[in-house]
Amino acid sequence: METTHKEAPNIDLRIPCKRHAAARAREKVRVAARKWGLDSERVEDLVTAVGEACGNAIEHSESLGLSVLLTRTDRGVEVRIRDEGAGFSPLEQLRKLPDPLAERGRGLYLIEKLVDWLGIRSSPGKGTEIHLVKYFPKKAAPDWAPVEPDVWSEYTRTLHAKYGSIS
Ligand SMILES: Nc1ncnc2c1ncn2[C@@H]1O[C@H](COP(=O)(O)OP(=O)(O)OP(=O)(O)O)[C@@H](O)[C@H]1O
Ligand SMILES: [Mg+2]
Repeated sequence: METTHKEAPNIDLRIPCKRHAAARAREKVRVAARKWGLDSERVEDLVTAVGEACGNAIEHSESLGLSVLLTRTDRGVEVRIRDEGAGFSPLEQLRKLPDPLAERGRGLYLIEKLVDWLGIRSSPGKGTEIHLVKYFPKKAAPDWAPVEPDVWSEYTRTLHAKYGSIS
């Protein structure tokens, strides 16, 4: 999915797959997403999803580093997490519901529930890109504004003066 916002602010991080890598990514995302105006509940959903995706890259990919690209667009905050590791079959994984008795295997399922849009590109031996999007909330439709009676009658008088009586 390409970003259409031409002046979208970006933050591009390169993080070695070492201890605290996921924590570093989570903190960067938290700070940027708050600064860019995402509300705290959405920020924490996104941060949790980013933590799972980075945890997967660190644990399963065997990549030396991961890159985290953060973008603010007019619809929300987008995060792309890339590794240059083993790759896997996303369709195969996403088709499986987590086994209720298994201790593991919930990360991708959780990510999918936490974000508004999830894209996964992965190829064997080349690596994986996880694309997460959390939207800004839709603007509420404006309520009917109460019109003061004198404003209303003034308006009616103007109309009558201009067009004559409507009735
Ligand atoms: N970046 C990645 N590189 C290689 N394989 C991956 C990557 N991300 C996920 N996988 C594969 O997809 C599987 C499912 O990932 P998921 O996060 O759902 O479960 P998990 O990491 O095994 O367990 P949990 O996240 O619950 O601790 C992983 O076991 C792994 O085989
Ligand atoms: Mg996982």
